[in-house]
Amino acid sequence: MTTAQPLDVQPTPLALLLLGREADPRSERGVECPGDLPAPSDPDLVARARAAKEKLGDKVFVLGHHYQRDEVIEFADVTGDSFKLARDAAARPDAEYIVFCGVHFMAESADILTGDDQQVVLPDLAAGCSMADMATAEQVAECWDVLTEAGVAEATVPVSYMNSSADIKAFTGKHGGTICTSSNAKRALDWAFGQGEPRHNKVLFLPDQHLGRNTAVRDMGMSLEDCVVYNPHKPGGGLTAEELRAAKMILWRGHCSVHGRFSLDSVNDVRARIPGVNVLVHPECKHEVVAAADYVGSTEYIIKALEAAPAGSKWAIGTELNLVRRLANRFADEGKEIVFLDKTVCFCSTMNRIDLPHLVWALESLAAGKVVNRIQVDPETESFAKLALERMLALP
Ligand code: 13P
Ligand code: SF4
Repeated sequence: MTTAQPLDVQPTPLALLLLGREADPRSERGVECPGDLPAPSDPDLVARARAAKEKLGDKVFVLGHHYQRDEVIEFADVTGDSFKLARDAAARPDAEYIVFCGVHFMAESADILTGDDQQVVLPDLAAGCSMADMATAEQVAECWDVLTEAGVAEATVPVSYMNSSADIKAFTGKHGGTICTSSNAKRALDWAFGQGEPRHNKVLFLPDQHLGRNTAVRDMGMSLEDCVVYNPHKPGGGLTAEELRAAKMILWRGHCSVHGRFSLDSVNDVRARIPGVNVLVHPECKHEVVAAADYVGSTEYIIKALEAAPAGSKWAIGTELNLVRRLANRFADEGKEIVFLDKTVCFCSTMNRIDLPHLVWALESLAAGKVVNRIQVDPETESFAKLALERMLALP
């Protein structure tokens, strides 16, 4: 039996340094912290976070997505995938402040699902999601016009991945659609295709083409030919009216740059390197990677699969590195060998924006009665986005 070794990879300061050097308006919402951040070298950061959290008591509820750094996860009241965190946020009406350690679209969803008297805080406003930014409200409105002109809008139900802005969620709610996450995408598509209206025979899936394609083909038995890709940067999405009419799944041309790094070569290499390895990947990976994997699922699914794995089993995981490293360390003593699927380091740089200094700053500000970095969705957007999110929460 191979002895499992803890992964010894630290977040590379280089990627963050480059990111922080200038603003990238496509993937970030400003990189300047509007307050005085404690120095990362401050030896009291942990004690300060603890003290501020204790002072706030039940007034604050800290949510941590599985891709967050260890130093942040330590202070999370709950951890989870996007679906679990949305539910957890909605289930805490008593908490005055929700501190969301995740990315912007998750904090927006928490604001939509919590009461008007609750305030959602994102410790670093630069924690965006490049995939969510690949579909803007204007582009999606234009796409709907294209579908209308082709005579297919009436037959189309939008299904939007949680990784989208509140505007896109509102569009989805307004047009009778639902939100999905990587843990309920099949249920969302079943719902969309089976609304009792024979004319509803198409889905516009936003913004992750890979999750849409993987769910349609792998879980629902559709063919690759049933899927077309709408490119918002081409006139008419780069599709003819005939192609739109023939398609069952109209996939938005968006993707996750982190999961996009995994390739068929990564899968073949790891199988050659570690005989008997189980390949487990997130459904945001490309179709060829998902097709070659043994198991596919959300971050929560990945954790549960590794919890249930027998001692001595070997796993190559295709998802963000903070999570994989944490799992490798956690299960090393149980003799489960867990490696990262790719050879190169693969953190989500925007998830990594939330670090201990930002968390301390946010908690101490709240403890001093000052709400910082509040994420607030305007009421009209919120009402339609909520409709779509509530449809998701009510999925069977
Ligand atoms: P999960 O819903 O699986 O946690 O995924 C969220 C995400 O952003 C993956 O890139
Ligand atoms: Fe967005 Fe990808 Fe980061 Fe998830 S991992 S938050 S999809 S960029």
